[in-house]
Amino acid sequence: KIIDAAIAIGQGQYHQTIDINSSKEFLKLSACINDMATKIRENIEKITEQKQELEAVLEGMQEGVMLLDKDGRIKATNQALTWIAKCSPTCVGHLPMEVFLNPEVQQACDDILKNGKAHLRIRVVMHPDTVYEVNLVRIPEGGAVVVFHDISELVRLEQARQDFVANVSHELRTPLTSIKGYAETLMDEKFRASSQADAFIHTIVKNANNMSNIVNDLLELTKLQQRQKEPDQLSPVNGTACFISAWETCMPMCRDKNIRMINRLPDITLVIAQENSLIQVFRNLLDNAIRYSPENTTITVFCEPADNTIVFGIQDEGPGIALRHQQRIFERFYRVDKERSRASGGTGLGLAICRHAVQGMGGKIWVQSPPEGTTSGSVFFFTLEKADRNIKL
Ligand SMILES: Nc1ncnc2c1ncn2[C@@H]1O[C@H](COP(=O)(O)OP(=O)(O)OP(=O)(O)O)[C@@H](O)[C@H]1O
Ligand SMILES: [Mg+2]
Repeated sequence: KIIDAAIAIGQGQYHQTIDINSSKEFLKLSACINDMATKIRENIEKITEQKQELEAVLEGMQEGVMLLDKDGRIKATNQALTWIAKCSPTCVGHLPMEVFLNPEVQQACDDILKNGKAHLRIRVVMHPDTVYEVNLVRIPEGGAVVVFHDISELVRLEQARQDFVANVSHELRTPLTSIKGYAETLMDEKFRASSQADAFIHTIVKNANNMSNIVNDLLELTKLQQRQKEPDQLSPVNGTACFISAWETCMPMCRDKNIRMINRLPDITLVIAQENSLIQVFRNLLDNAIRYSPENTTITVFCEPADNTIVFGIQDEGPGIALRHQQRIFERFYRVDKERSRASGGTGLGLAICRHAVQGMGGKIWVQSPPEGTTSGSVFFFTLEKADRNIKL
């Protein structure tokens, strides 16, 4: 009986117990074997549980993990890794190069296995736009663990931050250089008495105003971005009244260029919005339409209902915007023709402010150029939720 039980335990049947009623010695021996079988069973259950936990953690990870054996072949991978490498779990047994088709990854794997270092970190770009931080750790018993962490978003944010700082510095430097130059010239007493002095002072004031506009716009943008995180109390607002308010501000510019304004909005367009933000959106869009349109043209403002929203449109007969610029003009400081926009006093923040304001009110903004049924000009659309769903426009 004891021999049979020992054989069964040896074959993995740990539930096997020996039931013996004989002499004391055999009784003791069978109790020992029973005890041993129980301990082995408990240990195996514990190890199995730990293995399952580890597997669950590995599978739940967003990072791709692969285990290399001492020869540098893939021993195991988690699900995320098969997505990153775009391979099937059958990549086991292959070299990293065969799976990732990336020499940098292969080189790093070779280095960690052959060189003395216990830890290695590299940055690789895969599938055109995805950047991974790859951490390699050598296992003392042989082989290595390789972890792929997607840092594309971090890299993009860092790039955006650098671009932003570069743009702001550049935008402020231009008027500042001019102010400095003119002010230095005016330090000369003889020059101050000359007839040109007045013109110089005017340029200084103009550039100082320009800088102040940039700073104000940037502060406005920051405010809007913060508001987006904690949505402001939006309320029913008459969009038409907001448009009229913006239009009154822009009227003098229109008059100077003899631009005709056609208002096709009904008297009341009740939308869910924040009044000042909506006035600002209309003002920026009108300002652009007037600024970039030639003299003696027409700007039309209209709206259309669409499901639960109202789509507002501001259409001009200006130069239009080429398709390749249409997405980008909503970025901070992006201008189609830098020199011309700057000469006309633009900072390239107007549409970025519009986008943040509209998104903050739960809407969308886009441009169509040329507008449907025409060959020139642009129409800027933005949506806002209807305050009264039963409203008929
Ligand atoms: N209606 C339009 N017609 C043609 N181009 C336009 C129009 N609106 C905007 N653009 C282009 O988009 C760019 C970005 O516009 P945006 O309003 O953000 O900046 P801006 O007008 O240059 O400066 P500001 O910050 O003073 O508004 C403009 O420089 C211009 O090139
Ligand atoms: Mg503008």
